[in-house]
Amino acid sequence: MVMAKGKIFVVSMVILTLVVVHVCAIATPHEVEKQAKRGGGGGGGGGEEADRILALPGQPKVSFQQFSGYVTVNEAAGRALFYWLTESFQNPLSHPLVVWLNGGPGCSSVAYGASEEIGPFRINKAGSGLYLNKFSWNTVANLLFLETPAGVGFSYSNRSSDLLDTGDLRTAEDSLQFLIRWMNRFPRYKNREVYLTGESYAGHYVPQLARAIVAYNAQSKHPINLKGFMVNNIQTLVSYVSVFMDL
Ligand SMILES: *[C@@H]1O[C@H](CO)[C@@H](O)[C@H](O)[C@H]1NC(C)=O
Repeated sequence: MVMAKGKIFVVSMVILTLVVVHVCAIATPHEVEKQAKRGGGGGGGGGEEADRILALPGQPKVSFQQFSGYVTVNEAAGRALFYWLTESFQNPLSHPLVVWLNGGPGCSSVAYGASEEIGPFRINKAGSGLYLNKFSWNTVANLLFLETPAGVGFSYSNRSSDLLDTGDLRTAEDSLQFLIRWMNRFPRYKNREVYLTGESYAGHYVPQLARAIVAYNAQSKHPINLKGFMVNNIQTLVSYVSVFMDL
């Protein structure tokens, strides 16, 4: 009986994982187009107070601060990336900044990484509120969830063609621009130890962003204090298509 239950659990986990992978991997041009049209809220000016989250719907009281908003990464195109920062429970100033990227390509770091994996909140079964994830990484780090590239999650571009000729190189350049400008909005994070983390297709994003930061640091008076990067269950060598074929 215990075994049977175990099997059912494993099977449903596999199905759940497949569904999640499927949802992440497939962002049709149509959906991307809709997101681009949503536009708005680009901005970029203003300090961090404009980005403060007082509370999310159905959220338990918490002692840490949260912020979210857009950082324009390319004025000419009108590209802006969306982020959600959940600071450390305790001593946020003494903890590093951990940037988290989901993969896909096309997977939202807010919907997946923050809300189902390493973030402080989980959504309850009824969808009526949030509860705390006791395994959240923000017990030891300030978590910066970044939605990238433009077209993923709430991140967007006002130039529709960006969604068709997007690629890893631009993703890395935009993410670097994001970090530089985001730190101008949050000066207390300048010089902070930074770790890049991610999973799945972020096996491309993370090391390529690390390389872009190293190149930037070599010629900047205000280098980003990149300490390391970490990737897990990465999708660096094979495409999702071949994974699905094998199944
Ligand atoms: C995108 O276009 C909208 C509507 O014109 C504008 O409000 C917004 O600031 C633009 N976004 C960026 C990043 O330029």
